[in-house]
This record gives sequence, C-alpha cells and structure tokens, in this order.
Amino acid sequence: MQQGREVYFREVVIDSRRAGKGSVFIALEGNRLDGHAFVADAVGRGASCLVVRKKADTSRFLKKTTVIQVQDTLRALGELAHYRRQKVSPKVLAITGSNGKTTTKEMIAAILGRASIYGSRLSGKVLKTEGNYNNLVGLPLTLLRLQGRERVAVVELGTNAPGEIRRLTEIADPDIGLITSVAPAHLTGLGSLAGVAREKGELFLRMTPKGTAIVNLDDPWTRRLGKSFKGEKITYGNNGEVRGENRMVLGEKGTEFTLWAGGGRRRIRLRLSGECNLSNALGAAAMAYGLGVDLESMRKGLESVRPVPMRMVTERWKGIGIINDAYNANPASMEAALKTLADIRVKGKRAVILGDMLELGSESIKSHLELGKKVARHHIDRLYLLGQYALHVKEGALLEGMAEERVRIGRGHRELADRLREHTKRGDWLLFKGSRGLCMEKVLAAFKKIGD
Ligand SMILES: Nc1ncnc2c1ncn2[C@@H]1O[C@H](COP(=O)(O)OP(=O)(O)O)[C@@H](O)[C@H]1O
Ligand SMILES: [Mg+2]
Repeated sequence: MQQGREVYFREVVIDSRRAGKGSVFIALEGNRLDGHAFVADAVGRGASCLVVRKKADTSRFLKKTTVIQVQDTLRALGELAHYRRQKVSPKVLAITGSNGKTTTKEMIAAILGRASIYGSRLSGKVLKTEGNYNNLVGLPLTLLRLQGRERVAVVELGTNAPGEIRRLTEIADPDIGLITSVAPAHLTGLGSLAGVAREKGELFLRMTPKGTAIVNLDDPWTRRLGKSFKGEKITYGNNGEVRGENRMVLGEKGTEFTLWAGGGRRRIRLRLSGECNLSNALGAAAMAYGLGVDLESMRKGLESVRPVPMRMVTERWKGIGIINDAYNANPASMEAALKTLADIRVKGKRAVILGDMLELGSESIKSHLELGKKVARHHIDRLYLLGQYALHVKEGALLEGMAEERVRIGRGHRELADRLREHTKRGDWLLFKGSRGLCMEKVLAAFKKIGD
C-alpha cells in the first residue's frame, strides 16, 4: 500500500466463505481450524484486507491486498468492534447471567422496537445479538454489524472461562448492564458457584460508573454483586423498584402480572410459561425503564414476545401437552422447568424426559442426584433418562420415594422415544430438557415420528 493513501474496506469476516469484494478477513486460530489456512480463499473471494498473526505466504497478495500483522487476531477483532461501537455510539445494553440471557434480550428488543426515547421512535434503530453470538467472537461480530443509524444495541455476554466477561465488557462498554442470575453452570471452567459469581460480577466492576446497573434483588448473588457498582442502579424483583404484583400463573398460557415501574403500573399478559420468565420480563422492563421508555411500550413489547425455539416452548400434539425446553440445562434451569410443568393443570400424567447436565465438574454426581430428588418432589409421574449420569438421577428419585417402575433409562434417543410412546396417552404432559450435547429434541422428534 502506498503511504498516505486512504483505503476503505467493507465488512469484517472471520469465515473466508463469507468474504466478498472489499472485505476484511481476520484469521482466527480456533481449536479445530486455523483461519490462516483460508487467507487465499478469502482473497480469492475479494477480501482486500487480511488481519493475521503469521506472516507466512501472505506476501504474494501484498500488491493488491492490505496485510495487517498483529500479535493476537482475536484481540484485534475485539478492538475493531470496540472502535465501531464507540464511533456509532448507540446506547449499549449488556446482559449476562447463568440463565435467561437470550430470553431477556428478546424481551428488551421487543420493547424497544415499539418505544421512543427523547421523542423519536426506535423502530429499525435497534441492533441485537442474533442467536447465541455472545462470546469473544460472537460479540465483536455483533457490534461490527452496527451500520451507523442505530440508537441502541442489545448484546448478550456469555462465558465459560474466567476473564471472558471482563474482556467482553471492555469491548462493549455498556451503558446499562444486567446480571440475570448466578447459578451452577459451566463449573468445569469457572470452578464453583462463587467462581461463577466472580465472573459475572466483572460486568458491574468493569462498566463505566456513568452507566446504570440493573440489579436482580431476588437472587442473593446478584444482589451482592450490585453492591460493587458505584454508579446509578435500578433494582427489580419482589421488593425492587421494578416489580410484578398480583401474579396469576396460567400454566401453558403464560403468566399475568401487574408491572410496577417508576410509580406507574400496567397489567401484562406474558405469553411465556414459567415463573423464570416473569423474572426475565422484570429485568427487561428495568432496562427499558433505565432508558426512559414508557410503561405502555413495555406492555406492548412484553406481550408480543413468544418463546425462543427450544426454550419453554409449549405445544399440543395429538392431545398431548409438550414443553420443549431442550436447548440447555443446569440445576437452576431444571428446577425452573420442573416447576413450570408442576404449575400446569394436567388431566393425565406428567412425564419428564431428561438428559445430562454437562460441564458441572466435581459437582456432577451430586447435582444429578439432587435433580432426581427434585423430580420426585414435584410429583412427576414418570421419569425418562438419557446420558451417563442417568443412574444418579434415578437414584435420587428413588431415594425421595419414586417407584422404580416409573423410571426408565434409555440407550439412545429413539429407544427412549419408543418407551415414551408406549406409556403416553392424551391428556398427559411431557417436558423435554437436557444440556445441548444431549440433543433431547431428538427424542421429541422420534416421539412424533418425524426427523431421523
Ligand atoms: N431467570 C431464569 N432463571 C432460571 N432459569 C431460567 C431463567 N430464564 C430461563 N431459564 C431457563 O433457562 C433456559 C435457557 O434460557 P435462555 O434465555 O436461552 O438463557 P441463556 O441465554 O442464559 O442460556 C430456559 O429454557 C429455561 O429453562
Ligand atoms: Mg443464550
């Protein structure tokens, strides 16, 4: 490149197949693939800038391609995203926590899509994390989608190793931050519940004190973490500034409650099942309140939200009620899902089809034993299990008094579905849940005889 000449590039990509004319291709080094192996492919598709760590064999592109060599390409991706975030300068709303991030993000985005701030409508000016793009790669790619007209960016921050939330907070520089909950999840990387709290707490520790922390008072850990934040705070939960009163749990139809915020109130009918979603709705409303959004927009937004696929999705199939919560599982979300099933009025029997909860490290056996006990305590009629911890879940259920013939351990998805089909009748309700690696939705698919 000539000295002193300005060059404009287009979008930033990390997958060479997505490169086009003028793209910036960043070569990331993952566990399985090394992006440096794809620089030629990226250039072939039109990339005109390469961000690389290794210099080797990029020299032949030098004439037409700008090559930027850095020490750490993942860091460079984060820096570029941070730069874009500062330049476009939307209000950044960041959500972390052990459970409920994606649901809360969808809720706040739905509210903002109907809201105005400082007299102008936000519709079309809200960027949100798509899918689960919440890690050190996903968050930067999300922020790099900022075009310039956005007024708000709602981003999810996920972690499975210490230090990630700190870096994500640095990149996103949130104006408003929320920690939904602290629960045993990703213990393999984070060690213990205290380790999880420390990691999530980095959001409040690293956020600008000019920002606003949204504090969930119903969770003892998040309440404590809230104390570490020096700036403005908005609390939510039973005794929070933003709270839900006169709750009516409508089982499969959702939950009705009166939302209080800023001295005003609105009756809201949430179309999502489970009390956990009420907590998520309050968190979303508290964020919206922090932005100065009115109650009516909160109501309209929250009422428009439907479940995210595989998160507490309720449906009827041939007279059988189904809760598909198969996206993921940890002890707290299992408890939330069991409670949701227990709260549904059921004519027939309640059955749960559960897979292992992964990444719990040394807590694994104990947590699965506890899970079995919880199942029995929630008066579930039948328990179907898959995975290497199935025996421990069964043991817990038997210890708490569940009869052995009510528990089945499957050898595979299809076999478990066959057993389930033998016993299930119209009027029964089924809950499918397990960690992502267990793909419990496959049992559901086989049960309905669709899919493979
Ligand atoms: N506030 C909450 N507390 C406990 N469990 C929850 C909460 N919100 C959701 N869940 C459970 O966690 C699952 C995943 O929800 P999701 O919104 O995708 O969370 P995340 O993005 O944090 O993984 C849900 O299907 C439900 O079982
Ligand atoms: Mg998520």
